[in-house]
Amino acid sequence: MMDLKGKDVLSTSGFVRDDVEGIMGVAAKFLPVAKKEQTSDVLAGKVLAALFYEPSTRTRLSFETAMIRLGGRVITVVGVDSSSLSKGETLADTGKIIANYADVIAMRHSQKGSVGEVAAAADVPVINGGDGTGEHPTQALLDVFTILQEKQKVDGLTVALVGDLLNGRTVHSLSYLLSLFKVNLILVSPEKLKMPSYVTDMLKSRNVAFAETESLEEALKNAQVVYSTRVQKERFDDAAEYEKYKHYYILTRELIEKYNKDLTVMHPLPRVGEISEDVDDLPGAAYFRQARNGVAVRMALLAMVLGKA
Ligand code: NCD
Repeated sequence: MMDLKGKDVLSTSGFVRDDVEGIMGVAAKFLPVAKKEQTSDVLAGKVLAALFYEPSTRTRLSFETAMIRLGGRVITVVGVDSSSLSKGETLADTGKIIANYADVIAMRHSQKGSVGEVAAAADVPVINGGDGTGEHPTQALLDVFTILQEKQKVDGLTVALVGDLLNGRTVHSLSYLLSLFKVNLILVSPEKLKMPSYVTDMLKSRNVAFAETESLEEALKNAQVVYSTRVQKERFDDAAEYEKYKHYYILTRELIEKYNKDLTVMHPLPRVGEISEDVDDLPGAAYFRQARNGVAVRMALLAMVLGKA
């Protein structure tokens, strides 16, 4: 397995299966600490800088929780307006400066490639917490961790990715990771919000079986896991266009009971109507467990890049 010590985690495109399984193993070890059943101080004396220039609840707070529960400390920037980026400072200068203060950086920003710019300038590990429509590698890792927890395997599954596949960064990173397993993918979106061709080209080059469709029913009939996503309002220039698509797919209890009672339902959250609340009580509704798994996976990544796992 690749040694993550001192490395940036910007994308899942360079991972091999062994890397993913290695991270899953470390995350499983940290799960009792994430669940508050055990304590740990493996990251005592270390400082995480959480730079969140775009809105976040789960990603920032689970990174911060992960760091604190491993004995480390956290410094945080929330929003562009409160930072020197609003004065015109470059991402590279910001990266150089913060590397003096912190041992590791977790960052989110609206611009694709922005986290890579900081990483190139900072001489501490930088973890991508979401760069615009680009990638969200830690989410994808916690998604695979969740599939393993819910289904005890990834190989052999049919997984449907549903919603705004064009703008949603989580489904880009998740596609790279799932391509490392023997899966069938069903990509469900309106024509206008299809998966970008650089992702489908990667799937073809890795010989992943996948189908593209507009039909949610097709996914419900064939998949064991449905991964629903939010239409990414902040990426639309045209408000009317967003309104047209925002509730294009709504997963209801009735649909699940009609097509597949054993369906595992995932979502990176926040949901804004794509999954109706009457789904929440179904045993397969995994999205809240999925969010909890983020702490264990981020613990694993922090410990690994800091050379402590
Ligand atoms: C996702 C994101 O920020 O890309 N949220 C998250 O981190 N769980 C998904 C989204 O905002 O739709």
